[in-house]
Amino acid sequence: MTVLYFSSTGNSLYIAKRIGGKLLSIPECIHKEVFDIEDSEVGIIFPVYGLCVPPFIMDFIKNASIRTSYLFALATYGFFPGAVCGQLSGIRTKNGRSFDYINRLKMAENCVTFSDMAKSEGDSKKQQAQIDELLADLTDHRRFIRGDSPFKKLMTKNHLKNYEFETGVGIADMLTVSDDCRGCGTCVSLCPMKNISISDRAPVFGSNCISCGACLQNCPQNAINHKKEKSVARYRNPHISLEELKISS
Ligand SMILES: Cc1cc2nc3c(=O)[nH]c(=O)nc-3n(C[C@H](O)[C@H](O)[C@H](O)COP(=O)(O)O)c2cc1C
Ligand code: SF4
Ligand code: SF4
Repeated sequence: MTVLYFSSTGNSLYIAKRIGGKLLSIPECIHKEVFDIEDSEVGIIFPVYGLCVPPFIMDFIKNASIRTSYLFALATYGFFPGAVCGQLSGIRTKNGRSFDYINRLKMAENCVTFSDMAKSEGDSKKQQAQIDELLADLTDHRRFIRGDSPFKKLMTKNHLKNYEFETGVGIADMLTVSDDCRGCGTCVSLCPMKNISISDRAPVFGSNCISCGACLQNCPQNAINHKKEKSVARYRNPHISLEELKISS
């Protein structure tokens, strides 16, 4: 089994680890131009962004040639997943493969402008029960596409009319760095887009940000803030370490 994942605060990586098999970071695959994947079972796990599949994950799926007899996709989300399952069901890989199994999992919210991270609980009984159900589905090679309710479809349609997901400069121009920064470079290793460099012992953000928040959530000094964050509290899935979230180049 090969599990491809993207995770800025560990929720999706935790699910990937629970599933097991060979774990491949999607940002690392993109940087190393690994787009040909072959295994008996292949899965893709990522967070919902703006009620949708994050654009760079969508691009990755469309550019990947995946040869497998069982292809599954899981979207983790914090509050409202929108019509992400329907969106996934319409995607094909480069070699024309569609998903055999699509599901979503409610995990802890990790968007600092939407919610106070002090309230994000990453290991509830409900989450664990949901993960157990999901693992049973995958073991059985269940063929299942989760449907989206008419409400979810309508909300997503309306949302997309007035909102375009922030890429390009993304949230980078909303980030500030405090004097607590020690110039350690951890944020550089966490950024999936290689959008951070260190200059004069402090991070400098470029214009290729996908708004994932990995840098500000995981800075060991908590030195990065978003101008509109709900609080200074930060979240990382309790089962995942900072080291595991770093992206090798
Ligand atoms: C930029 C951004 C947008 C998000 N948009 C949504 C959303 O539309 N709906 C939702 O329920 N959660 C949303 N979230 C929360 C994440 O999908 C959720 O916390 C996810 O489990 C994080 O996974 P990770 O720890 O693997 O990165 C968003 C998070 C970020 C950073
Ligand atoms: S991770 Fe934090 S302390 Fe380290 S360079 Fe980045 S902002 Fe500074
Ligand atoms: S700069 Fe920060 S928020 Fe933007 S893509 Fe990199 S890690 Fe994510």
